Amino acid sequence: MSAQISLVEVTDANRDAVIAVRVHPGQEQFVASVEKSFQDARDTPEAKPWFRAVYDGATPVGFVMLSWNLVPGPGLRGPYFLWRLLVGAEHQDRGYGTAILTEVVRLLREAGATELYTSCVPGEGSPLPFYRAFGFEPTGEVDDDGEVILLLDLGSRP
Ligand SMILES: CC(C)(COP(=O)(O)OP(=O)(O)OC[C@H]1O[C@@H](n2cnc3c(N)ncnc32)[C@H](O)[C@@H]1OP(=O)(O)O)[C@@H](O)C(=O)NCCC(=O)NCCS
Repeated sequence: MSAQISLVEVTDANRDAVIAVRVHPGQEQFVASVEKSFQDARDTPEAKPWFRAVYDGATPVGFVMLSWNLVPGPGLRGPYFLWRLLVGAEHQDRGYGTAILTEVVRLLREAGATELYTSCVPGEGSPLPFYRAFGFEPTGEVDDDGEVILLLDLGSRP
């Protein structure tokens, strides 16, 4: 299924509506909230945070945050790292997650990127199968928090 989405800047006008996008309670172990993401973005400018709200028409359905062209170093993987991805509980399983990644890949290619890192917690209910289905491959590394490191070769996508 191919969902229609747009990536929209977060402003004072839509901030509260975007913060209200939440995952299922059981998924909170896999991803931090939108509000925490804003805080992380403020606290770690060296991680080069870039984020967008995800809309279907006038409805906010998700949120995505990347490290965009950071200088890799201790605790900083990149230059491009998918840091947060979430689709609101009531909007999941309709193709939005795949549509968001597809649009992010398009923007990254436009910027000249060749690969995208991410990481995720493995186990029951983990988004790992979602990432694998999209084309991310485990690098074999596990970070200090036990998250599996994944890499997408942007050239491998159609
Ligand atoms: C992971 C997430 C972003 C996927 O978004 P989505 O809009 O539900 O995904 P899609 O509808 O595009 O699903 C694409 C495929 O992945 C599968 N999939 C989605 N989430 C999955 C999960 N957690 N486990 C296994 N498969 C999953 C879907 O069943 C679908 O499979 P199909 O093509 O065979 O039907 C969303 O479930 C989410 O926000 N989860 C909680 C937060 C999270 O874990 N974020 C990732 C942080 S590392």
